[in-house]
Amino acid sequence: MKKVITYGTFDLLHQGHINLLRRAKELGDYLIVGVTSDSFDRGRGKLNVRNNVLERVEAVKATGYADMVIIEDYVGQKIDDIQKYNIDIFAIGSDWEGKFDYLNEYAKVVYLPRTQGISSTMLRAETISDVRIGVIGCGRIANRFPSEADVVSGLKVVAAFDTNQSAARALASGIEQCKVCASAAELYSMVDAVYIATPHLSHYQYIKEAVNAGLHVLVETPMVLDGNQAKELFELAEKKGVILMEANKTAHCPAFNHLMVMIKSGVIGEVVDIEASESKLWSSNMSLREFDAKQAGGSFYELGSYTLLPIIKLMGCNYDNMDIYSRMENGVDMFTRGVLRYPHATCSFKVGMGVKTEGSLVISGTKGYAYVPAPWWKTDYFELRYEDQNKNQKYFYKWDGEGLRYEIQEFVSCIVNRRFSTSRLRRRESVCMAEIMQSFTERKNFFEI
Ligand code: CTP
Repeated sequence: MKKVITYGTFDLLHQGHINLLRRAKELGDYLIVGVTSDSFDRGRGKLNVRNNVLERVEAVKATGYADMVIIEDYVGQKIDDIQKYNIDIFAIGSDWEGKFDYLNEYAKVVYLPRTQGISSTMLRAETISDVRIGVIGCGRIANRFPSEADVVSGLKVVAAFDTNQSAARALASGIEQCKVCASAAELYSMVDAVYIATPHLSHYQYIKEAVNAGLHVLVETPMVLDGNQAKELFELAEKKGVILMEANKTAHCPAFNHLMVMIKSGVIGEVVDIEASESKLWSSNMSLREFDAKQAGGSFYELGSYTLLPIIKLMGCNYDNMDIYSRMENGVDMFTRGVLRYPHATCSFKVGMGVKTEGSLVISGTKGYAYVPAPWWKTDYFELRYEDQNKNQKYFYKWDGEGLRYEIQEFVSCIVNRRFSTSRLRRRESVCMAEIMQSFTERKNFFEI
């Protein structure tokens, strides 16, 4: 018996898919169809898929050509499947010509003619057009945004604004048809969403303006440095029916996300202690905003929202006490250590711009601990360790490019699916971070060292 296998997303199943499946079936006696899982598609940037995996599997089955349907969930699975199911022919549409030649080692690769004039992308575009986004604040962080947005479908950077026009021009020059706006108001008038990457203290005003203009907002972390402002902005966004999301890239990092879910499901028992550190030693060039007290410079405002993230995600917002120890220079903290006491746990974080420390994350539990080596805030790897070392496990993930693509994907997904809050970083968690920043500003339980 000649066995054939083919793969695809098969979203909004159309005539092109049906022809492909028929031709694939004609190549042999038994056809296996691999349908991509939702998370696998999201992971490779295909986040605007309309039908969920069950609907897509049902649609493939309904064509009558598939003898068996399987789910494709990871890179490299094709080789495993070919061997596991004893496949003779791997078939795929001609749009992939040459891309799967490496599989010839395992099965005969056949590229089948693609049906002209139809695709899922076309069908999706007929109903929803790309989200047009404008970048406000075209400095260092924002410069990474266009190339990352480029790999996310359903989004197009169309405008840029910066009080320094040359920065906006530089950012826009690399993007096709991106308008350099003379004012933020001009930018608001031509987009559906904004990405705000201006200095911290200007976030509040820009968010408020954009939300009032009916725009979705992705804003760099820390969103604001005041809990009441954070609450007010989230309420306003919900009232206006727009998405407001804090762009904390660690929250969207695939490895970090999986770690959080695993720990919540009890793999290291009850969490008793968390230690999170991040340091970035910069030569203290006083002209930089990061070293300017008047512009909310300093280690904690700069890095604190990353180190607070695992603490707040795992232990929640209701700590009993927080003490903060900082080493100050010219009014900014070059190093800060915070200790949070919860009813049954302690958590500490360290951030440094003028002190170097091991940037690791250790989460200790009653049955074992999780260790994420530096740079844990953009990790592709972590370990679970136990008393019995034979039980230790290592986990590897993908971390592509600058990592902003994951938060951009989630932002677009929230817009398309009208989700106001994302489990990756809940609104209340963003509010809690802003409250902690505020208590630092107010020097509550603060000790200078
Ligand atoms: N296919 C085809 N003819 C088309 C569209 C798709 O032969 N007009 C084939 C693809 O080459 C692939 C399979 O159908 O072998 C599944 O493709 P998939 O990526 O799910 O479909 P597309 O319509 O190409 O989806 P998208 O637009 O999202 O890329």
